[in-house]
Amino acid sequence: MLAGKRVLLIIGGGIAAYKALDLIRRLRERGAAVTPVLTRAGAEFVTPLSVSALAGMKVFHDLFDLTDEAEMGHIELSRSADLIVVAPATADLMAKMAGGQADDLASTLLLATDTEVLLAPAMNVRMWEHAATQRNTATLKDDGIGFVGPNAGDMACGEHGPGRMSEPLEIVAAVEARLAQGPLAGRRVIVTSGPTHEPIDPVRYIANRSSGAQGTAIARALAGAGAEVVFVTGPADVPPPDGVEVVAVETAQEMLEAVEAALPADAAVFAAAVADWRVASAGARKIKKEGGKLPVLEFAENPDILATISRMEAGRPPLVVGFAAETDDVVDHATAKRARKGCDWIVANDVSPATGIMGGAENAVTLITADGAEAWPRMSKADVAQRLVARIAEALG
Ligand code: CTP
Repeated sequence: MLAGKRVLLIIGGGIAAYKALDLIRRLRERGAAVTPVLTRAGAEFVTPLSVSALAGMKVFHDLFDLTDEAEMGHIELSRSADLIVVAPATADLMAKMAGGQADDLASTLLLATDTEVLLAPAMNVRMWEHAATQRNTATLKDDGIGFVGPNAGDMACGEHGPGRMSEPLEIVAAVEARLAQGPLAGRRVIVTSGPTHEPIDPVRYIANRSSGAQGTAIARALAGAGAEVVFVTGPADVPPPDGVEVVAVETAQEMLEAVEAALPADAAVFAAAVADWRVASAGARKIKKEGGKLPVLEFAENPDILATISRMEAGRPPLVVGFAAETDDVVDHATAKRARKGCDWIVANDVSPATGIMGGAENAVTLITADGAEAWPRMSKADVAQRLVARIAEALG
């Protein structure tokens, strides 16, 4: 989360400037305030109107247009931010920065600032590989300027190679890595959430009553504590929280693959209600009624994501937290489940219908660790999440 953070975004002149619009949106979604500065060349690619509409504030665009000089000079503009991001950073802007030139608003801000600067270069591959640009990059890195990208790939000019600007979410991650605060800043946590849907045929599936509320609350609390969160969610009722990377899946198999792709992580919280079985005979065609004959479904066991990750020999997250949905003998079953699955903690809850927990707003959990069982009072799922996240922060140190 970037709540309360101020980012000064300088948009240079390049075709990648269109991605800066999405970047503004993504930063604001995470709670950052974005002050946009558009270079003269940048304004050839995106309009001041679209930039200011997305940023929700006026766009600054030229040194001599700074009519607000009296109330907010360029020095103040550059220093009031928590981070300056240049996206796209053109070869020209980088050359100006490396040479200490200040002949327009953007280069003047960059010279006058004492704030940390992050560049997202974007240029033709030959320009990027040119000795002058490489020299400038080395100089800027020596000066303490941060870089994200460029990526390699197909370019708008038809060539291929390094020079493509990083995607908005990659830039956001780089911004968060610099600005995030909280006990879990710099930590990466994977959360699974929601039910899974296991197809019977192309139109029918097997599901369960999980709403995704508890997993969503945990992901939100983790992001609020500054963690970088990968939120792997089945088809849940509640929308995913802001400020997390959402990976939407349907089946248990897809969920396992998404979790494995999201590793490495400092911790993983498996709050999803994963279907234990899938229909082995699920096919590409809808099952039809055949003169009163009942269909017979054959099942196969799904991979156990929690157990698979808990038992990884290399690359296991240092803290693996599972859930146990039980209807009777909650502590005994959950304690056995912790040992069976090999995870560090189990958050056990009683999901018997009388409790109203499954799909409800509250939860009454028992935390099972190596030290034993700790019953928490009944509280909202948001409070359970906060308390669990505080424990995770404590455990990760
Ligand atoms: N889990 C998982 N993959 C599965 C099944 C469960 O990752 N295929 C995880 C859940 O996310 C949860 C924990 O395992 O963190 C326990 O889930 P639960 O449904 O309580 O346990 P089961 O393994 O289904 O055991 P049982 O049905 O015997 O209670």
